[in-house]
Amino acid sequence: MSSSDGKLRYDGRVAVVTGAGAGLGREYALLFAERGAKVVVNDLGGTHSGEGASQRAADIVVEEIRAAGGEAVADYNSVIDGAKVIETAVKAFGRVDILVNNAGILRDRSLVKTSEQDWNLVNDVHLKGSFKCTQAAFPYMKKQNYGRIIMTSSNSGIYGNFGQANYSAAKMGLVGLANTVAIEGARNNVLCNVIVPTAASRMTDGILPDFLFNELKPKLIAPVVAYLCHESCEDNGSYIESAAGWATKVHTVRGKGSVLRPSLDDPVTVEYVRDVWSKVTDMSQAKHLNAIAEASGTLLEVLEKLKEGGAGGADVVEDTFEFNSRELITYALGIGASVKNDKDMRFLYENDSDFSPIPSFFVLPGLLLAMSTDKLISKALPNTQVDFSNILHGEQYLEIVDELPTSGTLLTSGKVFDVMDKGSGAVVVTNTESFDESGRLLVRNQSSTFVVGAGKFGGKKEPIAGVVPLQPAPNRQPDASVQYATSEDQAALYRLSGDRNPLHIDPQMALLAGFKQPILHGLCTLGYSVRAVLSQYAGNDAALFKAVKVRFSGPVIPGQSLRIDMWKQGSRINFRTVVVETGKEVISGAYVDLKSAPAKL
Ligand code: NAI
Repeated sequence: MSSSDGKLRYDGRVAVVTGAGAGLGREYALLFAERGAKVVVNDLGGTHSGEGASQRAADIVVEEIRAAGGEAVADYNSVIDGAKVIETAVKAFGRVDILVNNAGILRDRSLVKTSEQDWNLVNDVHLKGSFKCTQAAFPYMKKQNYGRIIMTSSNSGIYGNFGQANYSAAKMGLVGLANTVAIEGARNNVLCNVIVPTAASRMTDGILPDFLFNELKPKLIAPVVAYLCHESCEDNGSYIESAAGWATKVHTVRGKGSVLRPSLDDPVTVEYVRDVWSKVTDMSQAKHLNAIAEASGTLLEVLEKLKEGGAGGADVVEDTFEFNSRELITYALGIGASVKNDKDMRFLYENDSDFSPIPSFFVLPGLLLAMSTDKLISKALPNTQVDFSNILHGEQYLEIVDELPTSGTLLTSGKVFDVMDKGSGAVVVTNTESFDESGRLLVRNQSSTFVVGAGKFGGKKEPIAGVVPLQPAPNRQPDASVQYATSEDQAALYRLSGDRNPLHIDPQMALLAGFKQPILHGLCTLGYSVRAVLSQYAGNDAALFKAVKVRFSGPVIPGQSLRIDMWKQGSRINFRTVVVETGKEVISGAYVDLKSAPAKL
């Protein structure tokens, strides 16, 4: 309802405002009346600590309303007798549309000094009083299919305040009461919201500093409450904090949490709780839940995952990965970017106007998580000793999901997705997802790791759906080839990006793993190959890159040269990478997907 000048009106509505003889309640009552509502001005008229009673407070406000041409009646009952308050409204005006539970008192004492009487009276006036008035008004509102109810909470409840144990408890109780009233009334258009005010009043006189007191006029909050009570406002179950001509919604959030045991058959131990405590208390991916069903939904999911055990859920591991321009540049140097090439400056100089990550950098968070042998891979093969000497990187898939930042902390979560028995070894496929601080999914990685000697456990040979397939190169001459020389120090440099497997630098470890000398990281060769595709088909614009899939089919010795042969098939660039000196293929079945097909070769 609004008047011809666009003002929101309450004509025909009956508003009950409790504790309306002073402070905030008085302002609510005056505003409702000014906008056409018939108002019940309830006030017991006692002291601020709830002693005594007087009709004066309510009478003065009723007179004020009438003098301004409005309609109002006084009600002198305590809100604890809620039925009587509502009866006044029904007797005088025949209905009740709006109920603002506002009456309140204070009995501030430190916890130890709070008497049972102080506890009871404060809780009775605020919590029980709001319950009683609401309970009495509810049937009328439901029957007429219209109602707007306000509960009054306080920052003292939400955040706590020294000396207000009784008051804080009551005020937080009102939030809980509102949550349920909002649910029970929703079907009948009976909506319930919470106001969290800060205002100058008898209640805060002497508590708030003078300079604040003068600025915190209750009049500045009344329009917020009035709007929440208008028929055009459809909020339900909102908590609105308001003061000094400002308002905001407040809500609860819940973190992502952590499971506390490996599977349904395992007990929860104090030590396990300690070990995952940082995850239990991590709020970086916190979310607001709209309904209790969402909360129980997550619990059911957790139980499902625990039931699946193994690869299913409890083995989801997480890790954080911090980076800034230093890591991006170290990586770019590690895969051969050079200041000799103008177009590489954007990968090497943080002040370059196009400074951006080489997208393949984002294989790192996934890889580091997947390769931390004590985490994912060894869990998938509990009977095998998995260490650096018996694992080989088999395949890699990287997909960029959202715009890539040039610095930040990523949260990566990963799980074993598939395990295959290849006889001479096992293939463990891990899926990881990396999110930024705001919970935005940035990249997905899928790594296949070959664990030498871990086969013959009676497992299946073929991958399950969801393991990203390779794609053989077309049967024609390559459309383009790019050649890069690597340096003898290439692996030593690439190690600085995080993969410190000694196989790539320590001759003894290389021998142990079956190589004559240290070999280059497969992912370093992947980086060279992605650079080749970007420079050939994307003008080195990293933003055009979408995904890459490769199979590592042979080793590269640092110092050898790489030739990347490419075939353009629309927005997909198939490629293979060959060691120039030997002619041997080291990456096969590979492709890069660009966001759109390049305009020309
Ligand atoms: P106030 O003391 O000026 O007004 C409260 C009114 O409630 C008084 O007129 C009082 O006579 C009446 N009342 C007390 N017990 C009653 C009962 N049993 N039945 C009927 N009426 C009763 O206080 P103010 O500041 O206007 O507070 C209004 C509400 O806002 C209260 O619920 C208070 O807890 C809440 N609040 C106020 C804040 C502030 O900064 N002023 C901060 C947070 C919450």
